Amino acid sequence: QRDQKDLIYKIHEVANDFFIEQLWDAEEGQQIGLSYFRERELRQDIIKKFQLGYSPEKKDAFTEYALAKGYDKDILEKSGLSVFPENAPKGVDRFRERVMFPIHSFSGRVLGFGGRILNNTIKTAKYLNSPETEIYHKSNVLYGLFQSKQAISKQNLCLLVEGYMDVIALHQAGIEHVVASSGTALTVEQIKLIKRLTENVTILFDGDAAGIKASFRSIDMLLSEGMNIRVLLFPDGDDPDSFSRKHPQDYVEDFIHKHAQDFIDFKAEILFQNTDNDPIKKAEAIREIVKSVAFVTNGLKQEIYLKEVANKFKLSEQNLFNELQLQKDYKD
Ligand code: CTP
Ligand code: MN
Ligand code: MN
Ligand code: MN
Ligand code: MN
Repeated sequence: QRDQKDLIYKIHEVANDFFIEQLWDAEEGQQIGLSYFRERELRQDIIKKFQLGYSPEKKDAFTEYALAKGYDKDILEKSGLSVFPENAPKGVDRFRERVMFPIHSFSGRVLGFGGRILNNTIKTAKYLNSPETEIYHKSNVLYGLFQSKQAISKQNLCLLVEGYMDVIALHQAGIEHVVASSGTALTVEQIKLIKRLTENVTILFDGDAAGIKASFRSIDMLLSEGMNIRVLLFPDGDDPDSFSRKHPQDYVEDFIHKHAQDFIDFKAEILFQNTDNDPIKKAEAIREIVKSVAFVTNGLKQEIYLKEVANKFKLSEQNLFNELQLQKDYKD
């Protein structure tokens, strides 16, 4: 069992080296993969820092390579890197004709991959990720943590973004205290990984409906783990990657510092967009904000936040306190 797990780690190293070599040394990788990264304005040093790669079009390029190196079918299958369907018993690669993003553990071991299609118009999922394996549990991993951990400790702040390219683009802009939830709902395990380095998180999700929804959920999760949070949504549907390519480096960092709000102001701004001054809708919006306050673990902080809500909406603290108790009872 131990041996098998070691082999799965090992084959991920082999695969990572293979994809990197395909990107830099093979004609196909240079013409398709490298030019894709060039189009997205990534510098060479950043491509290397994140160990980005390319998986060839040939349907069994990696499988054939790994089998020839002596890895067996069973390990290839259990690593999630190859599949052996009945109609192709020799095996085919999971990742084909994609740019490859290796996903590292806290200590830098490759646990799995995300692979992006090169052409947005193809009607298939934009990113394909490794399946759950003996070494890869997506709910326990944060993309970029390995490359960002020192900066997170040093800044005593972790920026939380949605995607692979967001982490990479911010590093390229000199902002290195950043990890991605990789588009999935944030988990307690992921928050605990951040908490080893800092208790301060700024959520920087995409400025679209999905980003708003994900930020609401993440706010409550982070508060229940005792984290201090701020939130920023990029304007005009931008994400950190697209935003950072439109603006100079200093501006991006400044923008984040200036526009990150506390969760009460953030939720109020979003929720009050559609209340049309209707008292019932306004009450609903305020209840939704108090719902998040109910997740604050520290009693002192909770009271301060509740006072902030009272001041902001000119309501009595007693009234809000009653609502808070209702929300807490509802949670238990
Ligand atoms: N994601 C995924 N599978 C998908 C879509 C998204 O795993 N089919 C994850 C990826 O980790 C992705 C993140 O969710 O990076 C955020 O998704 P999205 O905002 O849609 O993609 P971007 O990261 O902005 O992708 P890109 O800039 O490369 O177009
Ligand atoms: Mn998104
Ligand atoms: Mn995005
Ligand atoms: Mn993007
Ligand atoms: Mn900063």
